[in-house]
Amino acid sequence: MLEIANLEVVYNEVILVLRGLSIDVPDGQIVALLGSNGAGKTTTARSVTGLLDNHGGKVSKGSISWQGQDITSASPSSIVRSGISQVMEGRRCFGELTVDENLATGAFTNKNKAGVKAQYDKVMELFPRLQERRKQLAGYMSGGEQQMLAIGRALMAEPKLLILDEPSLGLAPLLVQQVRDVVVELNKEGMSILLIEQNAMMALSIADQGYIMENGKVVMDGTGEKLRDDDDVKEFYLGLHQDEGGERKSFRDVKHYKRRKKWAS
Ligand SMILES: Nc1ncnc2c1ncn2[C@@H]1O[C@H](COP(=O)(O)OP(=O)(O)OP(=O)(O)O)[C@@H](O)[C@H]1O
Ligand SMILES: [Mg+2]
Repeated sequence: MLEIANLEVVYNEVILVLRGLSIDVPDGQIVALLGSNGAGKTTTARSVTGLLDNHGGKVSKGSISWQGQDITSASPSSIVRSGISQVMEGRRCFGELTVDENLATGAFTNKNKAGVKAQYDKVMELFPRLQERRKQLAGYMSGGEQQMLAIGRALMAEPKLLILDEPSLGLAPLLVQQVRDVVVELNKEGMSILLIEQNAMMALSIADQGYIMENGKVVMDGTGEKLRDDDDVKEFYLGLHQDEGGERKSFRDVKHYKRRKKWAS
């Protein structure tokens, strides 16, 4: 189980981005983390995988524990070794490396040789497209193929918890479907998943639990089913939340607006 408790994160010593965030990812579950641009989703992922440092960020309060161990200030490589892998936002592959070489970089913390081989075979089975392109430079592949590769690379470490940061971003509907299927498949095999998404309906359609973040805090949480059926969530995420000027309102604004409407009537 991953437990994020009352987490505060500051960038450059001044910009407070997470303001007391609490999120749990129980073993074997898919947990969706939703929220609009700038809510702090990527910052949350960086906090868990120890990558804040690289971005001038620091945990200023709260804690992150994983399987009962405090990992709040652990190094990125020890966190990967403990079983947490991340697919970063924007499918970061090494463009000048081949598919095989990219996958090898994902296995560098994995000292279990037989395990690496087995994971490699599994990645090829999950993503037949990668099999056809094993010797091709990643930089020449389509966006969808690069996303598959980014997921494949994260799997090479044999994670128990996989964090995906907006895996469906910029993908055509068919590929979004494929990413969704892969997530479900991995989860069926027992992997825990923290799924960060803007595509709320896709994420909630497979999530056991979901959290909606705004301004560095959770503003709503519940089972995937409950959030899927919630009118405020629907209103905000199905695009029915534009005011006269066409401005995108925040999730909280939608709720306040509805409340005001209730009072006014
Ligand atoms: N390295 C950084 N230095 C300073 N501020 C940062 C840094 N990275 C992110 N921020 C700020 O932190 C806030 C949260 O950013 P974050 O990337 O975590 O949001 P997000 O929910 O992932 O958004 P998106 O949906 O656009 O990816 C934003 O206001 C952003 O400008
Ligand atoms: Mg982000």
